[in-house]
Amino acid sequence: MVKIDFSKLRQFQLTEDSDIKPFKCADGDLNDFLFEDAKHFQRELMAVTYLLEYMEQNKTVAYFSLLADKIIFNPDEKGVWNKLNRNIPNSKRRRSYPAVKVGRLAVNEDYSGQGLGTFILDNIKYAFSNVKRLGCRFITVDALKTAVPFYERNGFQYITESDKDDETRLMFFDLKNFINV
Ligand SMILES: CC(C)(COP(=O)(O)OP(=O)(O)OC[C@H]1O[C@@H](n2cnc3c(N)ncnc32)[C@H](O)[C@@H]1OP(=O)(O)O)[C@@H](O)C(=O)NCCC(=O)NCCS
Repeated sequence: MVKIDFSKLRQFQLTEDSDIKPFKCADGDLNDFLFEDAKHFQRELMAVTYLLEYMEQNKTVAYFSLLADKIIFNPDEKGVWNKLNRNIPNSKRRRSYPAVKVGRLAVNEDYSGQGLGTFILDNIKYAFSNVKRLGCRFITVDALKTAVPFYERNGFQYITESDKDDETRLMFFDLKNFINV
């Protein structure tokens, strides 16, 4: 494990010319995405990727991708919808709500378990609640089963019970709970 110095971490958006430094986490698909697909997704305006690294080291410390999403009312999940609506005034209740999706999030295995994943989620929460560049009420994620406890620790809840035996679980975070925190 390499200790993280948060004050020296640099975050930037991937560009066509970015020279992506080596990266390895526990999930092979997430490793491949960064080198094989991230630029393509960005070119097609399907997801934007951000990288975290140290200037002086030849390593990508972490990366994440974001895209627009929405949460849509599912009549089979009335209980979840009621829970989700509880925090929304009656006059603003809808059958769908705007969201930002964490399409990918991965921390280099040399740096995991030191709060960096949480730091990244907190920055995303801040960017889409307090900064308010667009209306966006929820963060969503298709959480890999192995990462579900991590998202639970970060305040994410399940959108449905129907995926409880699947490899990924759809989860959400209400940004109203973060605003001005
Ligand atoms: C999941 C991942 C992003 C977490 O990043 P991280 O920097 O290691 O996480 P943090 O240190 O911020 O962990 C926050 C909390 O979640 C817990 N946690 C993190 N990963 C966990 C896991 N796989 N299983 C159980 N708990 C986990 C930590 O123990 C910590 O708990 P604490 O607050 O009680 O100490 C990172 O481990 C990773 O990249 N994994 C491989 C790729 C992946 O699964 N990405 C998610 C795709 S949906």
